[in-house]
Amino acid sequence: MRACVECGEALKSWMSTGHDRSELFVTTKVWTTDLCDPAAAVRSAEISIEELDLGAVDLVMVHWPMPEKHVAAYLALEDLVKKGKAKGLGISNYSPADYEELMKVASIEPLVNTFENNPLLYRKEWCDYFQQKGVVVQAYKPLQRGGPVLDSPTVKGIAEKAKKTPAQVCLRWNLEKGNAVVFKSLTPSRIEENVQVFDFSLSSEDMAKLDALTTPEVVQEAQGHWEQRRNGTPAPWGPGLRPRREEELAAR
Ligand SMILES: NC(=O)c1ccc[n+]([C@@H]2O[C@H](COP(=O)([O-])OP(=O)(O)OC[C@H]3O[C@@H](n4cnc5c(N)ncnc54)[C@H](OP(=O)(O)O)[C@@H]3O)[C@@H](O)[C@H]2O)c1
Repeated sequence: MRACVECGEALKSWMSTGHDRSELFVTTKVWTTDLCDPAAAVRSAEISIEELDLGAVDLVMVHWPMPEKHVAAYLALEDLVKKGKAKGLGISNYSPADYEELMKVASIEPLVNTFENNPLLYRKEWCDYFQQKGVVVQAYKPLQRGGPVLDSPTVKGIAEKAKKTPAQVCLRWNLEKGNAVVFKSLTPSRIEENVQVFDFSLSSEDMAKLDALTTPEVVQEAQGHWEQRRNGTPAPWGPGLRPRREEELAAR
């Protein structure tokens, strides 16, 4: 988000080596503190789009379904699609109830809903619901931030049998469910490892074993975290609205 200028420059440099913009799917999102007011939400997305400097972005997401705020923010962001600044809109961390509230008034359907989904936190109900609505489920934290899922004996056993790593098994698990996946790594070898997930599959028995790793306690804990986060989270840039790049640099 704060690195839009750098991301845009890196992508333009990559395109200059013979790649086309159509090979990319560029997403940005509006942080909760900028969702407080529809004009601030649009301003925030416009800063990202301008600073990326890649033309229209493919997707602008509402970061959290903030009660009494998210619908107005989404409706304001629809204007970006109408003006050709974004090709589509997305939602993030939306439950089925939030989506239903939104769809009572939205004129543009969200293309994607992104939420945490991995074998230790399988949100089956949400996955099934959004897939059935035709909204792409995008799993974030698919590796549980490098957490216990990678040390699970079940995951490790399946990985050993498939001659793959625990991370690859976790990523494949989401793909087998028809979900898109967004992982993060700062380690080049891991980035290469994490994209080698299209040359194997998981049996229905292994999928069932992985599905069974999610416990009611974990789901309950995640629900508490979700309730807290949807009511606002401090922005990475500190208090106030999202700064433009030059304002951020001047403040350093
Ligand atoms: N919309 C939302 O509310 C939301 C919330 C959270 C995250 N996200 C997005 O989702 C994306 C991914 O989520 P995330 O970064 O939170 O979690 P993640 O992708 O599950 O985990 C990233 C962590 O896993 C490690 N890792 C990556 N590949 C690995 C491998 N093959 N073996 C072992 N460890 C590995 C990385 O370490 P190294 O970097 O050291 O390799 C990093 O610490 C991010 O782009 C994030 O912005 C969105």
